Amino acid sequence: MIILGIETTCDETACAIVKDGKEILSNIVYSQIKLHEPYGGVVPELACRKHVDVLIPIIDQALQEAKLNLSDIDAFAVAYGPGLIGALLVGVNAAKALAFSLEKPIIPVNHVEAHLYAALMSTEKQLYYPALGIVLSGGHTSIVLLKEIGHYELIGHTIDDAIGEAFDKTAKLMGLPYPGGPEIEKLAKKGNPFRFPLKSGVVKNNPFDFSLSGLKTAVFYTVQKLGILSEEDKADIAASFQQAVFTDLQKKIPKAAKKYNCKQVIFGGGVTNNKALRTLFSGEEYIWPRGELTIDNAAMIAGLAYHKSAMPISAVHASCQSQF
Ligand code: KG4
Ligand code: ZN
Repeated sequence: MIILGIETTCDETACAIVKDGKEILSNIVYSQIKLHEPYGGVVPELACRKHVDVLIPIIDQALQEAKLNLSDIDAFAVAYGPGLIGALLVGVNAAKALAFSLEKPIIPVNHVEAHLYAALMSTEKQLYYPALGIVLSGGHTSIVLLKEIGHYELIGHTIDDAIGEAFDKTAKLMGLPYPGGPEIEKLAKKGNPFRFPLKSGVVKNNPFDFSLSGLKTAVFYTVQKLGILSEEDKADIAASFQQAVFTDLQKKIPKAAKKYNCKQVIFGGGVTNNKALRTLFSGEEYIWPRGELTIDNAAMIAGLAYHKSAMPISAVHASCQSQF
């Protein structure tokens, strides 16, 4: 089954063609980073307008690279949410138009669920359910119990900032460019993680929930106190911040895996680009998305849609609405 997927939830315009849920025939991502960089974050109105400009050429490019015509596509998949509403509408309406005109099915996919599927697409390992799913992105930070593809239970999530958002805001406070994650990772390599006593928050009543806004405020006061930041100061703040966030994950992930009897841990989302994080969870039991499937892409959308196509429509809609 050949599925063409479309992804326009935030600031990447993407189209991919995937065969039988795993074989990527093409995977085109148009990143809007340069457009949003001067503002230090994504400007929704600009993101939507850019999706309108580039989506059709990106779809054409995905077809060309896969050496296929629209008539070869068996179904159209689209990221249905969560995301910026105007941005979502561009992708959803394009997918609807294609499916309607070619009389092919349309499969809506939850973007966050697809981030976890990106790791499943990337591995040849045998999977054991239930597995623990860890979503670490710019908009989401969640721990879920993955009972099988399409069946999840939320175990914990952030009550304020997402982890990628915390990286981006910390970077912004130090005057670093957007997106902040890769900048912080680079600086942290040279810094002293023990110079500043930064810590993630503790959430009452649920040991698997996250709170990162206090950490961001602590970074703000640290920056304010130092005044003009030297390169060494920046590196030490980055290292102390990154260590605080990762220590939190090191505490929660093994504890949750044990409590819910999970033999494998599946990671997804843009923060999984971080090599220092991957080193901390490098055992056989940890499953990571491969490079090009970490950030927002449409291959994970088309891949997951293959599994959704075999499910009753009510189950497909229920997982689209799921909270991660
Ligand atoms: O999953 P993603 O592409 O978009 C959402 O669905 O949100 O994640 C983007 C996030 C940004 O916050 C970015 O700073 C972060 O992933 N990120 C990183 C790294 N690369 C990207 N965070 C930490 N270290 C990195 N190397
Ligand atoms: Zn994403």
